[in-house]
Amino acid sequence: MIDFHAHILPGMDDGPDGVKLSLKMLDESRRQGVDLICATSHFYADEEDPETFLDRRAAAYRTLCRAMGTGRPYPRILLGAEILYFPGISVAEEVKALVLERVPFLLVEPPMMPWSDTMLDEIEQCGEALSCLPVIAHIDRFMRMLDDYTLMDRVLERDILIQANASFFLHRDTADLAVESLKKDRIHFIGSDCHNMDSRRPNMGDAFEAIRDRGGEDAFYAMNDRICRYLKP
Ligand SMILES: [Fe+2]
Repeated sequence: MIDFHAHILPGMDDGPDGVKLSLKMLDESRRQGVDLICATSHFYADEEDPETFLDRRAAAYRTLCRAMGTGRPYPRILLGAEILYFPGISVAEEVKALVLERVPFLLVEPPMMPWSDTMLDEIEQCGEALSCLPVIAHIDRFMRMLDDYTLMDRVLERDILIQANASFFLHRDTADLAVESLKKDRIHFIGSDCHNMDSRRPNMGDAFEAIRDRGGEDAFYAMNDRICRYLKP
């Protein structure tokens, strides 16, 4: 199982403040069946340049690897970033360095305000301009918080992929819509967006059960297979 969106690196953002909590989260992810986890720490262009972010990320990853040691099985980690959209992102060459390790996906988080066509068009342009496949982060959060269920259609009119959070599949009010969207290939990635072991804990296994209960198991596996095909050795 692949967790496409997770905040598990120690001290990088509002995720775990230390390596002890990172290990607990990795342990719990593994227990739920996660084999591969994408470490998508927040990147804010108005606070930090990509180079500084990458240095910090490398240091956090080294700390985590040392703590993981070699004995215990943990999910494999791919390093990435969750980039808050900013006007001009498609011409910011240095953003190229923030695509997910070994796969060409660029995870972009729009700001929590009504989405303009200009913003969506620019996110789409990132694809060609930065040689990547742009992915909108946790679309379900925006649908819920902006109370706008047209967002998926607006994204899918463009060459942009969609990531949804595991919680979309877990809420009674949205689970049916979530699984239907997965079956219709309107969701391309699922992530826990886990930050800790309390309010935002790893929950990919729970989401998988909810998907299986609604007959979406094959669609889930097909999604994972598609991601794996992109993985470079
Ligand atoms: Fe996130």
